[in-house]
Amino acid sequence: MSEFIPIARPVITQAEKDKVMEVLDSGMISTGKWVKELEDNFARYMGEAGACATSSGTTALHVALAAAGLNPGERVLTTPMSFIATSNSILYCGGMPVFCDIDPDTFNISPESIKAAFEQVPEIKYLLLVHLFGLSCDMAPIMDLCKKYNVTIIEDCAQSHGALYHGKKAGTFGLAGTFSFYPTKNMTTGEGGMVISDDAGLIENSKLLREHGIGKDGTHITLGYNFRMTNIEAAIGLCQLERLDEFNAKRRENAAYYKEHLSDVPFIELPVEPVGYVHVYHQFTLKMKVPREPFLEHLKANNIGYKVYYPIPIHLQPLYKKLGYGDCRFPAAEDMAKRVVSIPVHPALGERDRERVVECIRQYKPGGA
Ligand SMILES: Cc1ncc(COP(=O)(O)O)c(C=O)c1O
Repeated sequence: MSEFIPIARPVITQAEKDKVMEVLDSGMISTGKWVKELEDNFARYMGEAGACATSSGTTALHVALAAAGLNPGERVLTTPMSFIATSNSILYCGGMPVFCDIDPDTFNISPESIKAAFEQVPEIKYLLLVHLFGLSCDMAPIMDLCKKYNVTIIEDCAQSHGALYHGKKAGTFGLAGTFSFYPTKNMTTGEGGMVISDDAGLIENSKLLREHGIGKDGTHITLGYNFRMTNIEAAIGLCQLERLDEFNAKRRENAAYYKEHLSDVPFIELPVEPVGYVHVYHQFTLKMKVPREPFLEHLKANNIGYKVYYPIPIHLQPLYKKLGYGDCRFPAAEDMAKRVVSIPVHPALGERDRERVVECIRQYKPGGA
């Protein structure tokens, strides 16, 4: 049997190991100068004025929303098709998630559904959007709408490090952008996250919340948390950031290979990259036109890793049903949850690996025909 091809695998080289040893040898293994350097380098890479490193993408979302002033009871528009951390971060702040449907072509929330939500729920004060799977949302009309309805944008870029929309990086459109450095992501620190912003006050507040609300005079001026990143994690991140463009180029090359060799397969639809966008393929997500389960069995039998992101839309998760969202209907998100499957596109994928993925998919006979 051929070797298992995982859905994700971080690329860790001697450079990361050496840098981690530098931190361990220094004795400063909690937060410190490596974290500061990663913040500076990440902000520079993104073209934003400031950055605040955190312990995860989830805590980055939490502090960004709180630092943006989200108060208990305030409504935040977001997507039902994401990892649950997106909308949970609204709940952590006492906010009320309001969901709107996605565009099934891009998997991202559409300007049309955002507009309809703003009209139906005038209390919406924030838009927490997600650039899902590595593709930016359609930012020009979304920015216009948010300006018109006086809504503050926070961007969840956990899956879109380096993605572009008409030449501008995802995470630089709203008041703040947040990132995850979990090992499956386009770059990793093991666990870790980052908030970026051009607004100095937002970064200052994020840093306060990250570290027990300690002010400049050493007193605790607000209720904060311990959401710190360690120097060990930052050391890994510094090396990964240097290679982020290379990793993304490899993801794009793998995606281009799949597009070349799978575009005529009748039982799947391939992900799109609209004109003017640079997709960074955090995931390469197929849409099934035939029942999904037997196809997943076929991938499994051939030792090809896959994952369904996400099998249950957030509003239909047990937690959100308990909160009263169970009767909401988002037909496109609910349909996608039944049809999507992501296949390996990560930068550690070898040429033979992606050939095997293509061969396996092309061999599949829906309905056993
Ligand atoms: C869209 C999205 N938001 C938030 C998160 C949370 O990031 P983390 O796992 O680093 O807490 C993730 C990561 O899984 C994600 O994919």
